This record gives sequence, structure tokens and C-alpha cells, in this order.
Amino acid sequence: MLIDTYGRVATDLRVSLTDKCNLRCTYCMPEEGLQWLGKQELLSDDEIVRLIRIAVTDLGITEVRFTGGEPLLRPGLVSIVEQCAALEPRPKMSLTTNGIGLKRTAAALKAAGLDRVNVSLDTLRPDVFKTLTRRDRHRDVLDGMAAARTAGLTPVKVNAVLMPGLNDDEAPDLLAWAVENEYELRFIEQMPLDAQHGWKRDGMITAGDILESLRTRFTLTEEGERERGSAPAERWVVDGGPHRVGVIASVTRPFCGACDRTRLTADGQVRTCLFAREESDLRAALRSEATDREIAELWKVAMWGKKAGSGLDDPTFLQPDRPMSAIGG
Ligand code: GTP
Ligand code: 5AD
Ligand code: SF4
Repeated sequence: MLIDTYGRVATDLRVSLTDKCNLRCTYCMPEEGLQWLGKQELLSDDEIVRLIRIAVTDLGITEVRFTGGEPLLRPGLVSIVEQCAALEPRPKMSLTTNGIGLKRTAAALKAAGLDRVNVSLDTLRPDVFKTLTRRDRHRDVLDGMAAARTAGLTPVKVNAVLMPGLNDDEAPDLLAWAVENEYELRFIEQMPLDAQHGWKRDGMITAGDILESLRTRFTLTEEGERERGSAPAERWVVDGGPHRVGVIASVTRPFCGACDRTRLTADGQVRTCLFAREESDLRAALRSEATDREIAELWKVAMWGKKAGSGLDDPTFLQPDRPMSAIGG
């Protein structure tokens, strides 16, 4: 079991498969991209599957989330999913993606055993999408989502980040569209995890702003604490139901107290939190012939050091050294 000193138990493993991405979202990375990890630095497919096996069979992980960068850029993804689906007990498996590659891969991922996907889409306007992501791929994302729904990778959840002056007027339109298309929409507060370190607290759109904007067109009723559990999204029932909308308020309403996550970066480092300042090197252990048991022990020790919270509210808060695209979203 992966337990920390506050009694939280990690059952959800988030695995970053690559730090690369085919978009350049302005809240994430600069136009020119970043210094990507080299091939030798990245875990191999076999190394990833071995770590997931240890997590599932020895450490009590029941849910595996594949992230990136953009996880669909990893050539071995379908095979990794297939091998994880064969583990006992079989973990639940999901993928968080920008959606571009889904048209091509959704059916194969479903056949391999993936349960569901979350897709990022911040705007319904192709021109705004191009400004926000610096790529003209809006159509590909919409097609990818539809392909995921058709393939049965459901519920398809949609993540939207609102940026002042760009798409902050779009919340009601996005929700109307999500209701019509049966996607589960969640708005995410922008976090200080961008590579450029440009985040400012007073410049971000808060959960309060988002709800106020949605209420100009919809009636929202709170679902309540119990349904939320350890999920980052707080959910509201839209116009009496059955549709729901979520808000992930990592900044203004943090959910650290209920956190059930552990993370693995594409270069094999365990992180206890998005905002952790320490990493534990499982890649070095893997490559120095450590046994499964030794690796499991290292992982347990890492989690024992998990901090109470993100520290975002501390006056001394420092952004982590790596941006979100390198940690795993
Ligand atoms: P599901 O609802 O089960 O699909 O999970 P999820 O909401 O964690 O999925 P997703 O990968 O789509 O994550 C959505 C957003 O939640 C991320 O972009 C982050 O903004 C936020 N998030 C995910 N994990 C963490 C975390 O450990 N800490 C914080 N503060 N935010 C997180
Ligand atoms: N703050 C909040 N969300 C972010 N994402 C990427 N960078 C940030 C940030 N700095 C979102 C993406 C995607 C999810 C994995 O994280 O839009 O939906
Ligand atoms: Fe790529 Fe996601 Fe970063 Fe956008 S937010 S550039 S889709 S990793």
C-alpha cells in the first residue's frame, strides 16, 4: 500500500508517457517547444509496464491514467495498454489527451482495453483555438472526440482552461455544446505549472468566475461532497439533470486533503504531487537490476514523504522545476 504520513492512500497512478506535444498551448509551453527528454532518458515500454505491474500487484494501485505531454505521440501506447489490461487485478485505465490523434487510434485503444478518455478543448472557435494552441487543429480535436465516443471510450470528459481576454466569455457556449454532444465538461483553473513561469494569481479565471458566467444561462445545483470523494472536479447538476458540469478548482478550492494520487514521469521519477519539489529515481533502480520488491519499497518511501498540500497558498511558494508537460498532466 502507498500511504503517506497524513493517512492518505494512493490508489490512482498517473503515468506520463512522453514530455513531447504537438500543440503549444500558451498556458503550458512556449512557441518553440521545450528541451525534450532524450531516448535513453525515457523509460522503455517494458520498463513502464514493469513499474505499472509492481504498482498494481504489490502497491494497491487500482486506476492507471496515461498522460503526457501528449500520450498519443508514444508509438508503443496500444501495446502498453494491452499489457496492462492483462494484469491481475486488472486496473481501470484512462487517457488524458489533446485529442488530435484519437481519430486514428480510438478503436485500437478500446480493443486493447482502455476504458475512457479525457480530451482538452478550451474553445469552440477555430480561430481562438489557433491563437491558444498555436496550431490549426481544431477540427482534428472535434473529430477525435467523436471517434472516442463512437469507439465506446466513455464517458468522454472534456477539460477546458479559460484564459482572460481569449476564451473567458465561452463558458456557457461550451456547456451548451457539451450537453448537446453528451460530453462531460469540466473547467480547470489555470495553475502555476507553465514552462514560461507566466502565471499570476490575480490574472486567472477562478471557479467563482466560471460559475457566475454559467449561471447567466443555466441553473446549477451542487452535487455535494460525497459524490466528489477524491475526484478533483466538483460537479453541478445542469438545469435539473441529468447532465453535469465540473470545476477543477486546484487554486481556490484545493482538494489535497483527499488526494489519492501518485505519479510517474516519462523518465521514471516518482512524484508525490504535481507541485512536489522532490522526485525519486525509479529508473536508476530499474537499470541497476533492482528486484520488484526493492522498487516497491522505494515507491513506498517516496510516498511517505508526500506533503500535506500543494503549498500554493504559502507566501514562499515556488513553482516546481519541471513544467506540467514534463511532470504529466
Ligand atoms: P477523472 O475525472 O477521473 O477523469 O480524473 P481527472 O480529473 O484527474 O483527470 P484529468 O487527467 O483530465 O485531469 C484534469 C485536471 O485535473 C488536470 O489538468 C489538472 O488540472 C487537475 N489535476 C489532475 N491531477 C491533479 C493533482 O494531482 N493535483 C492538482 N492540483 N490538480 C490535478
Ligand atoms: N493549469 C491548468 N491546467 C492545465 N493544463 C495544462 N496546463 C495547465 C495549467 N497550467 C490542462 C490541459 C489538459 C490537462 C491535462 O491539463 O488543458 O486538459
Ligand atoms: Fe500539449 Fe497539453 Fe501542454 Fe497543450 S496543455 S501544449 S496539449 S501538453
